[in-house]
Amino acid sequence: MSRELVASAAAAREQALAPYSGFKVGAALETLDGRIYTGCNIENASYGLTVCAERVALWKALSEGVREFRQIAIVTNAAIITSPCGACRQLLWEYCGDIVVHLHSLKGIDQQHRLADLLPLPFDNNSLKGC
Ligand code: THU
Repeated sequence: MSRELVASAAAAREQALAPYSGFKVGAALETLDGRIYTGCNIENASYGLTVCAERVALWKALSEGVREFRQIAIVTNAAIITSPCGACRQLLWEYCGDIVVHLHSLKGIDQQHRLADLLPLPFDNNSLKGC
C-alpha cells in the first residue's frame, strides 16, 4: 500500500458530494513523475450525471496535460472492498494502462490489483486496428 496516496484519496473523499447514495469515495492518481491528482464522487439530482471519484481525478490530470501514470488509490468507508465501476475501469485502462490499483476502506481493509486483472479482454485502441 502507498500510504501517501491512500492519505490523499482519504482527504479527497472528505469533499465528496454524495447526498443521494451517502456513499463517499475518494481517489488519488499518481503520475509517472510522482505528482498526485485527486478526485471525489459528485452526484446530482437527476442521478444519471453522477461522476465517480476515479474519473474526476483522471479528468483533472488529463486536462492538465498528464499522459503517464503509475498507480491509483480508491478510498471508501465501506464494510467490504470497493472496486472501480466498469466505466472507470475502461477509462483508466485507455488512459493509464496497466497501473496498480490500491483499494482501501477506512474500516481497515486493503487490496492491491493490477488494472489488467480487473479488466480482462479489454476493448481499446488496439481493438480498432482490426477492422
Ligand atoms: N462511486 C465512485 O465514486 N467510485 C467507485 O469506484 C464506485 C462508485 C460512486 C458513484 C456514486 O456517487 C456512489 O459511489 C454510489 O454508487
